[in-house]
Amino acid sequence: MEPNSSFFFFFFFFLLPLGHCFALQVNLTAGNELIEKVCQHSPHSDICMASLRTDPNSGQADMEGLALIALKVAHANATDTSQHIAKLLNNSTLDPFIEQCLTDCSEQYLDAVEQIEDSLVALTAKGFHDVDAWVKAAIADVDTCEQGFKEKPDYESMLTHRNIIFKQLCNNALAIIHDLQ
Ligand SMILES: *[C@@H]1O[C@H](CO)[C@@H](O)[C@H](O)[C@H]1NC(C)=O
Ligand SMILES: *[C@@H]1O[C@H](CO)[C@@H](O)[C@H](O)[C@H]1NC(C)=O
Ligand SMILES: *[C@@H]1O[C@H](CO)[C@@H](O)[C@H](O)[C@H]1NC(C)=O
Ligand SMILES: *[C@@H]1O[C@H](CO)[C@@H](O)[C@H](O)[C@H]1NC(C)=O
Repeated sequence: MEPNSSFFFFFFFFLLPLGHCFALQVNLTAGNELIEKVCQHSPHSDICMASLRTDPNSGQADMEGLALIALKVAHANATDTSQHIAKLLNNSTLDPFIEQCLTDCSEQYLDAVEQIEDSLVALTAKGFHDVDAWVKAAIADVDTCEQGFKEKPDYESMLTHRNIIFKQLCNNALAIIHDLQ
């Protein structure tokens, strides 16, 4: 290798990537500060920060970008719970009351998913009041799901943990959206 080409080799394969890493590092740090700042006002700041960081774009996102990510995380979670309920319902030996509750929850989660989808569209149009109303409607859906199991004593909801986590994700998104207004 001539001295010249080894310099270019060094430059392109070592210095240049290093430079990229450094810029990325700077930006990740900046983004993480914003994540900490927006999650300060959320009622579950640890879950808020952890959930926003699952998105690879959160480091570079601004406030509105973080609000979008928060809604997307809530959407993914509700979709996951929808599928989980469908699996629970695929059981021929289910107790009829539990089957009814799960069928209701299945509809409520489908509605919650739609509310979050509408909220995502509204957020990109800066329709903050719509986002607020629709995310709250999604929370109400999941409250109704949880409430259903309480209509008969001696029954327990098998969705309590999922319902709580989804509501926390929604409340985190709401806190960020309130900061945007
Ligand atoms: C960090 O990201 C922002 C937006 O993506 C960009 O404008 C800025 O130049 C980046 N900073 C560095 C140091 O790369
Ligand atoms: C949604 O939250 C529940 C409860 O924490 C969890 O079990 C599930 O894996 C989550 N799903 C997604 C896609 O985030
Ligand atoms: C329903 O459950 C059966 C066995 O429990 C399984 O073989 C089947 O794939 C399931 N169907 C769906 C749609 O998940
Ligand atoms: C079906 O439901 C019964 C009663 O709730 C439960 O004991 C059983 O584990 C369930 N079966 C499957 C495959 O989930």
